[in-house]
Amino acid sequence: MKIQKHVYDVVIIGAGGAGLNAAQVASQYVNTAVVAKVYPTRSHTISAQGGIAASLGNEEPDNWHWHMFDTVKGGDYLGDQDACEYLCRLAPEMIVELEHIGMPFNRTKEGKIAQRPFGGHTSNYGEKSVRRACYVADRTGHAMLQTLFEKSVAQGTQFYSEFYALELINTDGVVNGVLCFDMKDGSLHLFHAKAVIMATGGSGRVYMTNANAHINTGNGVAMSLRAGFTWSDPEFFQFHPTGIYGHGNLITEAVRGEGGYLLNGNGERFMERYAPTIKDLAPRDIVSRCMAQEILEGRGAGANKDHIKLKIDHIGAAAIMEKLPGIHELAHIFAGVDCTKEPIPVVPTSHYQNGGIATNYLGSVITGGNGVYDTVVPGFYAAGECAASVHGANRLGTNSLLDLVVFGRTVGERAAKYAKENKLVDMKADAGKTGLALLNKFANANGKHTFNEIYTKMATTMQANVGVFRKGENIEKAIKELKEAQEMMNDFRVTDKSSVYNLDLIEALEMEDMLLVSRMIAESALARKESRGSHYRDDYPDRDDKDGQKHTQAFLEADGSVRLDYRPVRTKPLTVETFPPKKRVY
Ligand code: FUM
Repeated sequence: MKIQKHVYDVVIIGAGGAGLNAAQVASQYVNTAVVAKVYPTRSHTISAQGGIAASLGNEEPDNWHWHMFDTVKGGDYLGDQDACEYLCRLAPEMIVELEHIGMPFNRTKEGKIAQRPFGGHTSNYGEKSVRRACYVADRTGHAMLQTLFEKSVAQGTQFYSEFYALELINTDGVVNGVLCFDMKDGSLHLFHAKAVIMATGGSGRVYMTNANAHINTGNGVAMSLRAGFTWSDPEFFQFHPTGIYGHGNLITEAVRGEGGYLLNGNGERFMERYAPTIKDLAPRDIVSRCMAQEILEGRGAGANKDHIKLKIDHIGAAAIMEKLPGIHELAHIFAGVDCTKEPIPVVPTSHYQNGGIATNYLGSVITGGNGVYDTVVPGFYAAGECAASVHGANRLGTNSLLDLVVFGRTVGERAAKYAKENKLVDMKADAGKTGLALLNKFANANGKHTFNEIYTKMATTMQANVGVFRKGENIEKAIKELKEAQEMMNDFRVTDKSSVYNLDLIEALEMEDMLLVSRMIAESALARKESRGSHYRDDYPDRDDKDGQKHTQAFLEADGSVRLDYRPVRTKPLTVETFPPKKRVY
């Protein structure tokens, strides 16, 4: 089949908050295209609810040092501290920038940007909870995505929506393109670029109960692994405490920020026992584990004692409708409850991939060998949930939207600068071969196993064996079942043979990626013999301060096996010379 060629200075894969912020910045300087699996305003950023962190100090004293302390501590000392500082120091100016391009933040009575408390965010180095999350009711991601989309359209970004990325082109160590197919008509497109930015989001769908959009199947990470790059810290997968029971949809932590709290089946406010100071606003890995513990020990709610209740009615219907209208609607539709009168049934739900493609604090992808993994890959950047490692072992709520815009802007600027200063590198002769092979494998798949069958096997074993609590024998069971699922992929059936919106084919490609992602998570979880952040091993319940403070570096070998190595955590904060807020690239 004919392959259409496109040439740009910068190509961005993914159109969520990180991709769009990179796009609106890069488009100001160079020809920039965004390719995305969905129309930009359908990206998963849209479902971010509670807020975006920044130490504006609009409602009470705050500063970036406290924010950085919380981010490093919340990440259980696995976050790279140069990146943590960069994130927290740039946060206030980022909020002002968003406001100036039109983001409609909620306001205080005096007209300042309003702020609410969120889990793990404290003042004075852990003393008490602080109001640090700026918000737009409980639809902050929605407002952000619309604002950034409008801005990037205005800057002339070229959009290729509903384009599925098949292969990241690695030409002798330089990333210079991506092969895609247009889901609307099945046509093939090879994008040739001076710089490529990966901004494809996470992979939460590998778990059965999750708060993620259907599109979150780990394509960016899988594509990068196939192109020879590294996934940093796959084992750290975050569970959000409050997913709607039976469905997994997110009920924002802002509910607890606004005064809601959790009750077990005995009507006890149990978080007071586990975290007496910050109670229900402890970091979410801790709250999720406490909830799971209550259920495991027989104190769950409901006939089967299998969930927890989230009470919010006491803050009053008017406050709920003003600040949390979205969760009122979700609770009604998915749990059948009116949360102005009764509690919402909740369980921990898979929410966020803390690790990602290894990057330095400026969003350049890094790689290497033999224990040294900080070599910058020319022309390749990553930002947002698909990148690592500012969040370490556990991300604080509202640091995600912040990550999208801070690192989105940084990689947009740096990729544009790189494109201006460098020539287009010729593509390798066999560019696109791996992607086409994958496409052909599934386009002609006439076997017996269906997506549903394989997805259920994978997501069930991930949920049961590599979830909130893990132990060696369970993880081994998951690895075995994931291998069986991978075998089933060789006898897969794609029933739809058309080239127009062939979702059967898309699901096959996504399944291949989700299996790779799951295997990486499970193998890294088995290898990490300690408990840290979102990775809790029943058989190794303590954090290993001697040997554990290191990033897992996971690679995909040519024979399909997973290889693990380790990279030291960057524990040095930035110096005056390396911190660039007054020295923007443009
Ligand atoms: O609970 C929430 O609104 C989630 C926020 C986040 O993950 O950053």
